[in-house]
Amino acid sequence: MQNVLDDLIALFYKIWLSAVYKIHVGSNWTLLGLPIIRVGGVGSRIRIGNHFRAISRIRANSIGVPGPVVIRTTQSNAEIVIGDNVGVSGCVISAARYIAIGDNTLIGSGALIMDNDAHLLVASERHSSIMKQRFPKGHVEPVIIGKDVFVGARAIILKGVHIGDNAIIGAGAVVRDDVPGGATVIGNPATIIKEA
Ligand SMILES: CC(C)(COP(=O)(O)OP(=O)(O)OC[C@H]1O[C@@H](n2cnc3c(N)ncnc32)[C@H](O)[C@@H]1OP(=O)(O)O)[C@@H](O)C(=O)NCCC(=O)NCCS
Repeated sequence: MQNVLDDLIALFYKIWLSAVYKIHVGSNWTLLGLPIIRVGGVGSRIRIGNHFRAISRIRANSIGVPGPVVIRTTQSNAEIVIGDNVGVSGCVISAARYIAIGDNTLIGSGALIMDNDAHLLVASERHSSIMKQRFPKGHVEPVIIGKDVFVGARAIILKGVHIGDNAIIGAGAVVRDDVPGGATVIGNPATIIKEA
């Protein structure tokens, strides 16, 4: 019964996403609980491929989720591109410019991926809404995550980071530097413990 309900909800949610936000939605999605997927700003776009699986319901994940999956662009012309067969659990993906996630990548419970600081760093300007902020150079940088990457639970991937195919990001890692393909990184700041 729950499966039938989930399929129905996924179907209507996808129709709504594509009609209201013009989000490109692939086929064969599995949504366990309702994610929050929002396009903010003129010219902003989100594309999510086929066989996308998103867990937003706490009971649907063996280690739970801290909240629903959040995928959102926050500024004009920002873009999020998610490939085929990507699985996400209770994570946040927030783009002010560009975030790409490659095919077959898995993103663990409570991971945070952002290409910006969400607030300006100058105290007097910090309280304005992110939609109105104009980030100075260096404060919004694209994040590119390759194919077959495994992002552990509660990992944080910061602006400007590129992660190569087949990399593994340890649980709780704070990734501020690029990760080569096939490498495993852990810790804060994330450091390589295994090369390809
Ligand atoms: C990073 C990870 C893949 C490494 O696994 P592994 O290759 O089997 O490595 P090991 O367990 O042998 O650990 C190697 C060393 O790194 C340490 N380590 C492992 N993961 C770590 C982590 N996330 N943070 C800090 N240190 C970690 C180990 O304690 C060990 O240290 P030591 O050499 O001093 O004893 C794994 O520990 C991990 O974090 N998995 C993520 C699981 C997860 O979040 N799943 C998401 C489900 S939604």
